[in-house]
Amino acid sequence: MNYLGLKREELLNVSEQLNLLLASYNVYYQNLRSFHWHIQGDNFFDLHERFETLYNDAKIKIDELAERILTLRQKPLGKMSEYLKFSNIDETEDILSDKEMVFNILKNHKILIALMRNVIMAANEAGDEGTIDLIGSYISKIEKASWMLDAWLSKKQEPVLV
Ligand SMILES: [Fe+2]
Repeated sequence: MNYLGLKREELLNVSEQLNLLLASYNVYYQNLRSFHWHIQGDNFFDLHERFETLYNDAKIKIDELAERILTLRQKPLGKMSEYLKFSNIDETEDILSDKEMVFNILKNHKILIALMRNVIMAANEAGDEGTIDLIGSYISKIEKASWMLDAWLSKKQEPVLV
């Protein structure tokens, strides 16, 4: 039964955009796990935990994205090979400095935000308020997380005590 009351053809574009976001989110998630494991140096305790917070958040959103696609009566991508094929985010190297890791996450966030805006544009055309509501809430949160990472990245060098 068509419980959505929306046109199927218009929703196809929404679910396609959601699948592109889902693919990128999965690569972003794995990048964060890798950073969580490979972080070294003075900022280990801070960043090890921060990366865990971020990947736990990504894990929840990945599930919500896939289930939104199912709610729209479409099929979410489920294979790693598909995620790698359709992701706009590249797999990261494991061994990076702390600053390179944070910079990489900020770059990934920029890509995710652009994909979220594409989803909202498609949902807007389809009159799909449910998707607009879901993704709209993601955007402000990821923007805030990016601000915090950017603030950390631009921190001043600690004065050396003598
Ligand atoms: Fe852990």
